[in-house]
Amino acid sequence: MSETPDPTPGPFPPSEAFTAQAVGQASLCEDAGADRLAFWAKQARERLTWSKDFDEVLDWSDAPVAKWFVGGELNVAYNCADRHVEAGNGERVAIHFVGEPGDEQAITYADLTERVQRAAGALRAAGVEAGDRVAIYLPMIPEAVISMLACARIGAVHSVVFGGFSADALRTRIADGEAKVVITADGGYRRGKPSALKPDVDEAVSGETSVQRVLVVKRTGEDVTMGDKDMWWDEALEAAEPVVEVESFDAEHPLFILYTSGTTGKPKGIFHTSGGYLTQAAYTNAVVHDVHPDTDVYWCTADVGWITGHSYITYGPLANGATQVMYEGTPDTPHQGRWWEIIADKKVSIFYTAPTAIRTCMKWGEEIPQEYDLSSIRVLGSVGEPINPEAWMWFRDVIGAGEAPIVDTWWQTETGAIMMSPLPGVTALVPGSAQAPVPGITADVVDEEGRSVPNGESGYLVIRDPWPSMLRGIWGDRQRYEDTYWSRFPDMYFAGDGAKRDEDGNIWVLGRVDDVMNVSGHRLSTSEIESALVSHDTVAEAAVVGAADETTGQAVCAFVILREESRENYAEDAAREELVQELRTHVGRQIGPIAKPRQVLVVDELPKTRSGKIMRRLLKDVAEGREAGDATTLADPSVMAQIQAGLKK
Ligand code: WTA
Repeated sequence: MSETPDPTPGPFPPSEAFTAQAVGQASLCEDAGADRLAFWAKQARERLTWSKDFDEVLDWSDAPVAKWFVGGELNVAYNCADRHVEAGNGERVAIHFVGEPGDEQAITYADLTERVQRAAGALRAAGVEAGDRVAIYLPMIPEAVISMLACARIGAVHSVVFGGFSADALRTRIADGEAKVVITADGGYRRGKPSALKPDVDEAVSGETSVQRVLVVKRTGEDVTMGDKDMWWDEALEAAEPVVEVESFDAEHPLFILYTSGTTGKPKGIFHTSGGYLTQAAYTNAVVHDVHPDTDVYWCTADVGWITGHSYITYGPLANGATQVMYEGTPDTPHQGRWWEIIADKKVSIFYTAPTAIRTCMKWGEEIPQEYDLSSIRVLGSVGEPINPEAWMWFRDVIGAGEAPIVDTWWQTETGAIMMSPLPGVTALVPGSAQAPVPGITADVVDEEGRSVPNGESGYLVIRDPWPSMLRGIWGDRQRYEDTYWSRFPDMYFAGDGAKRDEDGNIWVLGRVDDVMNVSGHRLSTSEIESALVSHDTVAEAAVVGAADETTGQAVCAFVILREESRENYAEDAAREELVQELRTHVGRQIGPIAKPRQVLVVDELPKTRSGKIMRRLLKDVAEGREAGDATTLADPSVMAQIQAGLKK
């Protein structure tokens, strides 16, 4: 949690020219303030095409499970593809795909529609029916978006699993959602070489499984083993009868499940539905990113494996008929100017990325972006973690020529779409703060008792009223949904973040107040990593904390106690160092490389209270190189001294 530096630069009001052309005007706030439900009804009707209009805006009678746009019917894929062709924009590029090796595709809305129809046909041929679940485990290639829309077209529920997750993580997610089909690829390109995916799928669907068919996109051309269930994507599409008809689904028809880390070891299947989700994704993409579909080139650097990719690559921009860039690889392959080269080449005008990426580019040096023509940029966006004012200023000065507005967008997998953000044509920007809820949303900062805190004070971030793109639950576990989000404060959604309201009323998100870490904008659960560590033969107990890290926001630090019988084997430094590396790899295999601890410290004891709870706060002090704080409530107050002495050895 960073303190606000003093004096904070800004505020930076929008230029008159920007305001004059902005999609989001001050009148939005007035409309939403006058009648919130009527405001959302208007957004839903104006931004989406419904095959049947809705009769009621919100039904909250089964709270905290909301029904939005009750009685309405629509097809989400039609809204993201076909209707733009019908409106005469079939030749507009939907996706400029740039592969890491340099291959490119310009996919128009007409192409996209055709490919989605064929893919939907291939899913039907594989036995997928409305309501069935399909797991998608793909690199950042157009087929990822096409598969999601193909599911939506026939009412199937997709569950995208980030390609960087391990076979184990994939297996758990497939099992929890009982997926019938998996869509994957032989591999993708990562850091200059092919990185295989198919072997992980083979492992994840081996033995007892709900999966009946695996569709495999050929991307790298590397050898893969094709078993009984496997079928090449291209062949499946070719053989399929395209689904040209547009079936209507209820506004509350399930659209997708996306797993995210919670405070317990088991990932939560966050579950979203159709009409409300698409309304808020499209609305926020239009008014926050200021998308003008006929002139802008938009680029969101997220992976579709995360919610940002769902809402701001697949659903929001495509519902709006925007043109976007999709890039497969890493920002430094083959050189550290790759992103800026793509921006210059494709004339990207709206660029949405994460603070950790901005800080990494800062480290590489501003000479790198300065080599490229970035004059097309007119809006910048940030998401995933708090952006420190230094990174904010760098982003605006170096990438935005000192004038592009930056929208710092706060939201979550659970909220489905942006909840807090400045509006670039309205708000005077305060670097480092997400500032205020977007029109239509009622966010607040409250104290322990749920009372709004006055300006200048900190508390917990909550949402007071239901919103269209809110999660409808945790897949298969209503109780966990109520307990996690609705039990901390009566009648308020508890986001799990701490926040501060400054003297001017701007909201600053400070970071998680629970056992969830945020590493490079990725959510990781301390207990999930602890479970992975204790599943190793040598480990008796583990405690994991997120320690502040200059580049990644937080870094995973693990403290482990070895089993009695292992202690002797690892008494020597060299053996211990080898074990530490082995444990890091083990976590990478169990969860995925992003979860690998930066540090693993082997200790003899862990600091516990008399009731046996590990005091992570003290371990965090150690991990961040501070003297440990108050340890008087520990069962054995000398433990911290022992740990610190042990580490100095
Ligand atoms: C954090 C990502 C500060 C926050 C869209 C939240 C942020 C978690 C911001 C959700 C921001 C996201 N400023 N913190 N602009 N955006 N966060 O589910 O802790 O991957 O609870 O969704 O990221 O992460 P998730």
